[in-house]
Amino acid sequence: MPIRQFQAQRMVAPRQFKPIENKPVVIEIGAGKGKHALLFAQQYPDTTLYAIERTREKFDAMQKQATLTPNSHFHPIHADALPWITHALYPKQVSTFYILYPNPEPHNSAQRWLNMPFFEFLLSRLVEGGQIILASNIVDYIAEAEQQLLQVWKLPYEKQTIASDSSRTHFEVKYLARGELCQQLVMTKPQHYTTRFDDFMPLNGVNP
Ligand SMILES: C[S@@+](CC[C@H](N)C(=O)[O-])C[C@H]1O[C@@H](n2cnc3c(N)ncnc32)[C@H](O)[C@@H]1O
Repeated sequence: MPIRQFQAQRMVAPRQFKPIENKPVVIEIGAGKGKHALLFAQQYPDTTLYAIERTREKFDAMQKQATLTPNSHFHPIHADALPWITHALYPKQVSTFYILYPNPEPHNSAQRWLNMPFFEFLLSRLVEGGQIILASNIVDYIAEAEQQLLQVWKLPYEKQTIASDSSRTHFEVKYLARGELCQQLVMTKPQHYTTRFDDFMPLNGVNP
């Protein structure tokens, strides 16, 4: 079934939204308490990283950790990723999106990222050759995402098994400790890939 078009122009800006500059960035969606984001910021201190988390208590934990190791390139964001990305990001600005263990409601397939009309908008923000890294412990989620990549989005990807001693996020640690299979899809945006949002400029806090 074809995916309907995301209504980007209808997105209301997150509270206290601040526009960003049009410079290369890495984005983490659903960063939780920020374990991966903090590790990333330590490893790549010169790369600009926005780590978005909508749950207040998790965001607070991430922000607290961030203040302990100040890094002017690391920006924890308390917001829902959809409006924040629509208002903040420029076409072809993002080198990597991380979506690590998103855990959708099992019965709500519309919540899964590759089933969402918004995924097309996400692809428009990615630079050619840029990547989306989606990790999950839910085998069916990965399998369904692969089908969407092949049938709808037509993107090249690699499926990887996460090493049993990996510890990038709190959820990854928990699932691997239980002996669960954790996998990730590394999707790449090819040269000349087009979307219906390639000319859509960020709304920059201007509401519909
Ligand atoms: C299962 S947790 C995983 C957290 C972290 N990535 C980890 O692996 O430990 C999923 C997180 O994604 C966040 N999340 C889900 N949808 C989101 C959205 N649209 N915008 C921002 N955060 C979102 C939830 O609040 C939750 O903290």
